Amino acid sequence: MPTTTIRLTPNPPHQTLTLDIPTEGVALQGRIRVPGDKSISHRALMLGAISTGETTIKGLLLGEDPRRTAACFQAMGAEITDLEAEWVKVKGLGLGNFQEPVDVLNAGNSGTTLRLMLGLLASQPDCCFMVTGDASLRSRPMSRVVKPLEQMGALIWGRQSNSLAPLAIQGQLLHPIHYHSPMASAQVKSCVLLAGLMSQGRTTVTEPLLSRDHTERMLQAFGADLAVDPENRSVMITGPSQLQGQTVIVPGDISSAAFWLVAAAITPGSELVIENVGVNPTRTGVLEALIKMEANITLENERLVTGEPVADLRVRHSRLKGCRISGDLIPRLIDEIPILAVAALFAEGATVIRDAQELRVKESDRLAVMASQLSCLGAQVTELPDGLEIQGGALLRGAEVDSYTDHRIAMSLAIAALRATGITRIQRAEAAAVSYPNFQATLEEICHQ
Ligand code: S3P
Repeated sequence: MPTTTIRLTPNPPHQTLTLDIPTEGVALQGRIRVPGDKSISHRALMLGAISTGETTIKGLLLGEDPRRTAACFQAMGAEITDLEAEWVKVKGLGLGNFQEPVDVLNAGNSGTTLRLMLGLLASQPDCCFMVTGDASLRSRPMSRVVKPLEQMGALIWGRQSNSLAPLAIQGQLLHPIHYHSPMASAQVKSCVLLAGLMSQGRTTVTEPLLSRDHTERMLQAFGADLAVDPENRSVMITGPSQLQGQTVIVPGDISSAAFWLVAAAITPGSELVIENVGVNPTRTGVLEALIKMEANITLENERLVTGEPVADLRVRHSRLKGCRISGDLIPRLIDEIPILAVAALFAEGATVIRDAQELRVKESDRLAVMASQLSCLGAQVTELPDGLEIQGGALLRGAEVDSYTDHRIAMSLAIAALRATGITRIQRAEAAAVSYPNFQATLEEICHQ
């Protein structure tokens, strides 16, 4: 019987993940947990750092992205204890009390760190900040947050008309605005709300479609004067508003659970329970899309944990059907489109994903990269200006593919490789650690022959 090989090998300065998994006789079985939610982890560290008193956080994601957030706020004087501890403690500075950092703040690969932090930096009078990121982040658009901040009176400089990092910020007392965001982006919404926290009066953000609402929930829990008008997709914050440190229990990240939901759904004989997953309705688009594809997924033990809905997810293999994924579903599954494209390969008929042009400015151009890398494995995928068209019923064969240093691409390709004949080698696979440091260990744990 052919054996299973899952191996990460150095390929300086990167690493290669080799997967040689028999397509017959391997099933995914077990009860697992996924790492803490990335969005909630960033916000817990940031709000902890600007509150008075102590914030204690359990289940923090120890991925590279939240580590960058922690390091940036430590550089401005916040005391954050050992990130590996069961309960991470953040001793807050209180609003408006950042120390001017003596060096450039580096957000690494993390758009959430940079865009949310900009709202706080721009509204901190008398301090000057320099911010940057890695090659991917330095090419991603910052004008979407710089523009509303400039409307509030912020002073920000950067390449290409202040739209690309590195950025320099001269903190100012900002004035409130009503911002009609042209895009459904939680990073834009959160940036403006965090700037509004320090401004005198009411700042409102209205978005075209509802994006994830973790910032609103957490700001309310920390005592901000914040109101939500769901009918008009508007959030109002009245500043200045002092926050008080809280306890945050971070649920498992549904974006990380999505890899296992798809892996089990497409692998005959599989049944997995993924415990303790955040099921905030602004994030569960992936469940809706998979259920529309006739995946067998049930929610068990639904509960509320420090203001966020949580459940255990049970998934069993089933025959999937192609479907259309578009419109207001897109912001609620924006990070899961690469892995949904993998699910679509094993569905009956075609799957069409539209209205997802935002994917072109994520950690990589996820539409171009998924189309090209899945094609290397023998899939029939057409790249559309704002989406993908994927033909189901694929017979994949192992090949050499590349993550393009994008964590979600690396992991999506690994799940596709589960169902490919022969050996798949994923170059620059270390990218997975941005959001899922133990991805490979979990894959080995649940792969049964
Ligand atoms: C995030 C918002 C989303 C998402 C990103 C995390 C957040 O980005 O893709 O991974 O934590 O606010 P956009 O706001 O750009 O849609």
